[in-house]
Amino acid sequence: MSTHSETAAQTAPVTTIGEIGKHEGQTVTIRGWLYNLRESGKLLFPQIRDGSGFIQGVVPRNQVSPAVFESLKNLTQESSLVVTGKVRADKRAPGGYELDVSDATVIQRVPEDDPYPIALKEHGIDFLMEHRHLWLRSPRQTAILRIRAEIIRAIRDYLDEDGYVLTDPPILTPAACEGTSTLFPVEYFEEQAYLTQSGQLYAEATAMALGKVYSFGPTFRAEKSKTRRHLTEFWMVEPEVAYATLDEIMVLAEELVAFVVQRVLERRRDDLKVIGRDPAPLEKVRTPFPRLSYDEAVKMLQEAHAAGKVETRFEWGGDLGSPDETYLSAQFDRPVMVHRYPSAVKAFYMEPDPQRPELALCVDMLAPEGYGEIIGGSQRIGSYELLLKRIREHQLPEDSFKWYLDLRKYGGVPHSGFGMGIERVVAWTCGLEHVRETIPFARTLYRLYP
Ligand code: 4AD
Ligand code: MG
Repeated sequence: MSTHSETAAQTAPVTTIGEIGKHEGQTVTIRGWLYNLRESGKLLFPQIRDGSGFIQGVVPRNQVSPAVFESLKNLTQESSLVVTGKVRADKRAPGGYELDVSDATVIQRVPEDDPYPIALKEHGIDFLMEHRHLWLRSPRQTAILRIRAEIIRAIRDYLDEDGYVLTDPPILTPAACEGTSTLFPVEYFEEQAYLTQSGQLYAEATAMALGKVYSFGPTFRAEKSKTRRHLTEFWMVEPEVAYATLDEIMVLAEELVAFVVQRVLERRRDDLKVIGRDPAPLEKVRTPFPRLSYDEAVKMLQEAHAAGKVETRFEWGGDLGSPDETYLSAQFDRPVMVHRYPSAVKAFYMEPDPQRPELALCVDMLAPEGYGEIIGGSQRIGSYELLLKRIREHQLPEDSFKWYLDLRKYGGVPHSGFGMGIERVVAWTCGLEHVRETIPFARTLYRLYP
């Protein structure tokens, strides 16, 4: 025998909270989880989330069957449920709508004696990271993940529409790309392999085949540092362009970053609001970005030291550390590109500046508001002999680089590219303290669980 409400539930179209505005005045079904429940005598106000949004339901005792009312009464947080009701516009409601519930089915009830561990109050970060698989459900975390997805989509759209071909590099590699001290070893049958630190070397090969390419995937660094910017597993997009010079990939870098930020402002403004991110600094991220040579950067840092604004005096020749990057980036209202560092502090594959061979034709893009390096890139060494010399100087296994040297032997051309770390870009765009919130399951020095 079918009751009235069952019939309504069976015929009501299934929709999502995000789409609910299209169904004003209609009876619809949404499938989600109980975020919160307020009870007031003969009325229940379940707050439901379904991943696309949050909506408050209104359940008067006399409008639903006693069984439905009882099943919702005292329902525990994060129990899963399917509800049917009429969509009503309400100016006071956070999403603009409420649901006058006529039917509900609890799919799985969270046991009272083993409640959802993340109550709607403050928890410490260690506890939250330990429960990351559940913490992901919170409004703030879902907003961050949507922004991350938007950023990745924007990057792909930009490069795909600009004629770049996506070429996926291997994850298992025979040798280092970014220094031997941060390699994750992997047993590879009888051989020693490593998880890739960067797809760059392979992107150089595919660029010689296809002209303009990019790789986009997970990269790994056995970083012993416990900073707010470092993960051991992170995602990197790496465009590589045959015949491009350093100046040309600097233009690509600034245009890509400006495009991505504008896209987030355009499409994810509500999510920025949920996180409490002030969009004003992001509105300023327009090309051109300022360019600063390493020499100029050193001068700025030394002047800042003389004026008592930074603690230690920076000496020419060193790599920029986090505090240096923070100071420099704070001097500009948009990302700044620092170029031509001393070769000695940079990777083995960078082309020397013909004007000043002690410098590398390289660039780091530093994000504003203290976020530091989000992009690292360079022109690549063109000469077979010089590249071989560098491989030897860096004590890299020559055998593993034979194929890479071939690229300089068979139709070598000037070429350049860069890598942009997705988690750093998400952290900056969202205004987060730490990169651990920018990826569903962060891997850090002390975390491999969950
Ligand atoms: O500057 P990096 O080490 O450059 C490369 O790997 C080049 N091979 C890229 C290329 O030219 N194709 O790394 C590039 C970016 C950094 O600017 C940063 O955004 C990010 O990758 N990154 C990290 N993000 C999170 N955790 C880490 N441990 C990171 N290391 C680098
Ligand atoms: Mg770098």
